[in-house]
Amino acid sequence: MTNTERNVAIVGSGLIGRAWATIFARAGWSVRLTDPHIPTLKAAPRLIRDELHALARHGLADDPDGAVARVSIASSLQEALLDVEFVQENGPEIVEDKKTIFAQLDKLAPPNALLVSSTSAITASRFTETLPGRARCLVGHPVNPPHLVPLVELCGAPWTSPEAIERARHIYREIGQVPVTINREINGFVLNRLQGALLAEAFRLVGEGFISAEDLDHTVKDGLGLRWSFLGPFETIELNAPGGIADYCARYTGFYKELAAAAAAPTSTKPQCRPLDSGWAAQPAPDRSGAKQGPNKVGGICPQKPGKRPS
Ligand SMILES: NC(=O)c1ccc[n+]([C@@H]2O[C@H](COP(=O)([O-])OP(=O)(O)OC[C@H]3O[C@@H](n4cnc5c(N)ncnc54)[C@H](O)[C@@H]3O)[C@@H](O)[C@H]2O)c1
Repeated sequence: MTNTERNVAIVGSGLIGRAWATIFARAGWSVRLTDPHIPTLKAAPRLIRDELHALARHGLADDPDGAVARVSIASSLQEALLDVEFVQENGPEIVEDKKTIFAQLDKLAPPNALLVSSTSAITASRFTETLPGRARCLVGHPVNPPHLVPLVELCGAPWTSPEAIERARHIYREIGQVPVTINREINGFVLNRLQGALLAEAFRLVGEGFISAEDLDHTVKDGLGLRWSFLGPFETIELNAPGGIADYCARYTGFYKELAAAAAAPTSTKPQCRPLDSGWAAQPAPDRSGAKQGPNKVGGICPQKPGKRPS
């Protein structure tokens, strides 16, 4: 994955920005970091180095020291954007912030640079409409942690050029990610809509006492999850009936219609489950008090309240 002389700006160097820096640097790109919160920015190269070495220990990075050497802190946004081909924005999940950041990016980045937001749930049309360069703006929504989970959801606004989406797809593939294209804007993109449907049913099944939270987790980890780690749902049902998908639908549509007639609604009732969050306090994190941002996230885990911001 060597690809020298290519520059990317990482705008916002928190949890997701650092992961993108790790991915681009591992793939041979020169990475410039920027973040208005100085402690976060200063801590980023060390955290990226640690992550690259951890990846190398598991055979997931070839030359961690070489990759670290390609990561630098920019002294200003302007400097970060000099000669870049790609900008990955990872600022706060607040539409007004995205508007401000994208206005600056569109003004300062080279005209042919792609401007891509990591946003989890804000469609690009909400923060790029008035920009002269809006055709080069799109969402590239990663899955946390992006250096381990390769999917990236690409979603343009109605005015994003097909060429920009195609270039972004190509670049993400080159750096080892798996891009998928969402053809038109939809709230929650696709991954979180699928996750939301599963979570609603999981909360209902646990909440109504059909199964414990622990056994529900086993049902996904040791059942659906194992299957879905190498076969998508359509590939699965193609194999689940002798005549493939059409046969599966003929056999089981009635059953699924019965289930859909009593669809589960989301809930905020906490199921009784193992307190996974007990480990969070022990993880190191830069002091970010005073920064305008969401809840603290450490060690690759985002301790946010259910429903607040999906990852
Ligand atoms: N955490 C996840 O699981 C996850 C997954 C996918 C996508 N995302 C998206 O990635 C983005 C970043 O999320 P995160 O989890 O890394 O948050 P974070 O709070 O860890 O990082 C956000 C960073 O943005 C910086 N920032 C604030 N104002 C800025 C500005 N004007 N310009 C540049 N940077 C600025 C903050 O100082 C902070 O370091 C969000 O849009 C989020 O929705 C997050």
